Amino acid sequence: MVTIDEEFDMVIKLVLIGDTGVGKSNLLSRYTRDEFNSESKTTIGVDFATRTIQIGKKKMKTQIWDTAGQERYRAMTNAYYRGAAGALIVFDICSLNSFDSIGRWLQEIREYGDPGVPIVLVGNKFDLKHLRQVPISTAELFAHENSLKYIETSALLNSNVESAFQFLITEII
Ligand code: GTP
Ligand code: MG
Repeated sequence: MVTIDEEFDMVIKLVLIGDTGVGKSNLLSRYTRDEFNSESKTTIGVDFATRTIQIGKKKMKTQIWDTAGQERYRAMTNAYYRGAAGALIVFDICSLNSFDSIGRWLQEIREYGDPGVPIVLVGNKFDLKHLRQVPISTAELFAHENSLKYIETSALLNSNVESAFQFLITEII
């Protein structure tokens, strides 16, 4: 959903999805507050944060929603996806399990989200590449087959976090 706000040229709602522990909340805190928490707690319900960005002459507010990867802590799926202009599906490059769940997350957003909503696939924890379980080529192939863009990030090192959101925003506007 792209809405008009008096103060902003545009307000864009983005959603973060992916299994528990992949780093969604830390990507959010890194992007909106430049913070990382090595002992962050699992999200319960829904959280969100905003960040104002300037693109050309346009001032935009990105409103980013973050929910629990754990089924039992998730809030109403309908409301979460309603009006989302884009989504980041996050997995952990050190967890094959989290990669195997991507199909399920895709199905969910296609069921509850607006048709054709832009999605970027994010392989997080790039700093732990010595523990990598998901080869880049595998992730890239999957992304290609599903018409998604793929990017690897590290919320810990603040690497590519900005680019991941930027990637998504440029797909939207
Ligand atoms: P849920 O809220 O349960 O769905 O999990 P989440 O996806 O929000 O994960 P969260 O951001 O809470 O991170 C889980 C753990 O991974 C925490 O201990 C983080 O510190 C750690 N973590 C997050 N991002 C990174 C990263 O880029 N590198 C490393 N090494 N650890 C990370
Ligand atoms: Mg979380």
